[in-house]
Amino acid sequence: MKRALQFTALVAALALLTFAVVVAAAARGGQGHGKTPTPINPAVTYARNCATCHGKDGRAATFKSKHHEHARDLTDARWQTDVTDERIFNSISNGKGKMPAFKRKLTTEQIESLVSYVRGLKR
Ligand code: HEC
Repeated sequence: MKRALQFTALVAALALLTFAVVVAAAARGGQGHGKTPTPINPAVTYARNCATCHGKDGRAATFKSKHHEHARDLTDARWQTDVTDERIFNSISNGKGKMPAFKRKLTTEQIESLVSYVRGLKR
């Protein structure tokens, strides 16, 4: 009987330990160092990397944008018509003017998904 109790306690302790390790790993994975892990979610990528300058809605009406960087209004229909997907991709990858380059921070797939996302911001 005593043996059985000891065994149960051992199993319970092991289960608890496994649980703690899994939780710790999940917490670490969520932080994301450098490249953001898949799955690709352009809305999240945009909110994290672009919204400070271009605004949540792409209109670049944020304080930072108006007063410091003069980021482009991504919703502007005339600009959207004139610009190619390739140029949007290149500008995000390599930066432009005061806009930083993102090719080291984001994967090619993430940048491609942002091109479509930017297209969706058109007024
Ligand atoms: C530090 C502020 C800043 C951040 C962060 C930023 N941008 Fe920009 N962005 C700018 C500025 C400033 C311009 C205007 C550059 C110019 O034409 O000189 C610009 C221009 C652009 C353009 C137009 C490029 C062209 O070729 O006409 C696109 C598209 C764009 N940004 C998308 C993004 C996306 C997507 C992100 C996030 C991955 C982002 N930007 C992050 C400041 C920023």
